[in-house]
Amino acid sequence: MRLDGLDAAAIEQAATLIAAGELVAFPTETVYGLGARADSDEAVAKIFALKGRPTGHPLIVHVADRASAERFAAVMPPVATRLVDAFWPGPLTVIVARRADVADAAAAGQGTIGLRCPAHPVAHALLVKAGEAGVPGIAAPSANRFGRVSATTAAHVADEFGDALPVLDGGAARIGIESAIVDCSTGRPVLLRPGILTTKRIEDAAGEPLAAADEASPRAPGTLVAHYAPQARLRVMPTAMLQTALHVLGTDPLKLAVYSRSIPSGVATGAVHRRMPARPEQAAHELFSILRELDREGVHLIWVEEPPPGPEWDGVRDRLSRAAAA
Ligand code: TXA
Ligand code: MG
Repeated sequence: MRLDGLDAAAIEQAATLIAAGELVAFPTETVYGLGARADSDEAVAKIFALKGRPTGHPLIVHVADRASAERFAAVMPPVATRLVDAFWPGPLTVIVARRADVADAAAAGQGTIGLRCPAHPVAHALLVKAGEAGVPGIAAPSANRFGRVSATTAAHVADEFGDALPVLDGGAARIGIESAIVDCSTGRPVLLRPGILTTKRIEDAAGEPLAAADEASPRAPGTLVAHYAPQARLRVMPTAMLQTALHVLGTDPLKLAVYSRSIPSGVATGAVHRRMPARPEQAAHELFSILRELDREGVHLIWVEEPPPGPEWDGVRDRLSRAAAA
């Protein structure tokens, strides 16, 4: 069921559903979320059931503001506060120690909780309205079936879950890849998932270097190697290798799609080509949409030209390499 995100009555309706413990998908600036009230373990269980998400994989709790975050956090370490001050509302999730008496199911029983204040006006309006109805925060993973490509439009959400699910339509997600996640619960900040914010920007705001995730870091399915997978087999190749592969392939396109910055001279007739934007923000914005579109066109292979080097491409590179690993 599509609800118009520009219509105050529709937002009110969505907030009422959330308050009643129902699921509602809603837009954020990163990707669409599949939301339930974070303080109800029963409501949150519906998310795991609908997504087919294994239990034990915690959800991010979305909040309207800093004060709401403090209803879930046992402590806000200074580094988390600096990050929140710098980037909220926005595409950054902090992981902090959780208050033991709230959001047990959303946190998948862990002693920590992921918190994010999204910058999308429709998400914000929903959080405020739901807050007025007594909801302290909305737990929401990306609105896709477990392991699949995240949804960046209301239509993608309907493709994933059917028309019965209420979806607040707020247009195409501006950023297009999920938030950066920084674990602030261990004494030194750890980047669990890159996003559109560069490591440099996060480190500048944190005032200290970010450690890379290692085996000791908490489990995060968005950080599983195989994730964000289209139906087609996806490979990421350096430019020269892509050219060679296309020449070897010759004129038989094998239901092939090529996603590259230039149109390679060797693209076989009949192969589908999509041009990768030159700017990382633009590439992130369209990435999941392109993968879904190519699946719809029924291609079997997607050959992607490796993005250029440079930290501003980290988020896109990360999602592509996970899609390729599936
Ligand atoms: O941009 C985003 O972050 C989107 C929008 C909807 O806000 N949400 C999103 O949620 O990407 P999801 O569930 O698809 O990915 C959240 C990631 C998962 O990898 C999860 O394991 C990790 O965050 N995570 C959440 N809480 C955590 C915790 N307490 N400790 C470790 N990882 C956590
Ligand atoms: Mg996800």
